[in-house]
Amino acid sequence: MSTTNSQAQIELHRALAPRYAYRYSFEFSRLFQQDWHAEMISHVPGDATRILDLGCGTGFFLAELEEGHPGSVGLDISHEMLKVSDQYVPGAKLVTGDAEKLPFRPGVFDVVFCKGSLHHTRDHVAFLTHCKNALHDRGLLIMSEPCNDNPFIRLARKLLYIKSPHFDVGDQGFTRKGIISLCEQAGFQVQLVKRYGVFAYVFAGFPDHLGVLRFIPGNALLTRFFIRLDRLICKVPGLAMLGFHVVIVGKPKA
Ligand SMILES: C[S@@+](CC[C@H](N)C(=O)[O-])C[C@H]1O[C@@H](n2cnc3c(N)ncnc32)[C@H](O)[C@@H]1O
Repeated sequence: MSTTNSQAQIELHRALAPRYAYRYSFEFSRLFQQDWHAEMISHVPGDATRILDLGCGTGFFLAELEEGHPGSVGLDISHEMLKVSDQYVPGAKLVTGDAEKLPFRPGVFDVVFCKGSLHHTRDHVAFLTHCKNALHDRGLLIMSEPCNDNPFIRLARKLLYIKSPHFDVGDQGFTRKGIISLCEQAGFQVQLVKRYGVFAYVFAGFPDHLGVLRFIPGNALLTRFFIRLDRLICKVPGLAMLGFHVVIVGKPKA
């Protein structure tokens, strides 16, 4: 990653850290995020013990990971984000660092998670290659990134990233095909690709951006309904492209 982008990301996330705490302060948004995290964690092999969350941010994912897999490590370039992590995952192994200069021995991890960190980098193949190098031969990369297959989602994201001070203009989503190709270029064999999040993503996921659900009675119940509906939509060929994220599981090519 260029020094300029590293600095930009550090500055951006310094301002974002308190927003994340607000984002997770509502029952309905926690319900959605917990479902998303459970989806990602469901792909962890039973015998995995050495797990890295790359770009762990404020640590809400790490906190849930810790419940089933104690001793996981969180790394983030933003010390301000990690300070919030400290609060939610007391005693967690947290490292301030750049994903492109990982301070770990190669091949040491069973699983590397990236939830929404790849699209903040500029050299995606380099970032994914670092993920691969951190894994041993039978390790797994489990990632969730913004998916822009649908032209409306693509346009909405483009406008949001340009207009909102909470994104860097260089941040970008991926197409399903594009992200698979990036993984392959980095030396991964993609094992699973799954779209995730439609209505629950938009209405429940980010009350700091769109807070309408805060004013609706029964918002937790409605979120549960959206989560189920989204899972259904994401299974139907043709409709799945309405998913705002794509979950990818890959293993290093032999
Ligand atoms: C969208 S946030 C996601 C945070 C967390 N994974 C979550 O889902 O709440 C992206 C995170 O990636 C981190 N990040 C961006 N570039 C990074 C890099 N080169 N190395 C490590 N972390 C990075 C940011 O500081 C930020 O915390």
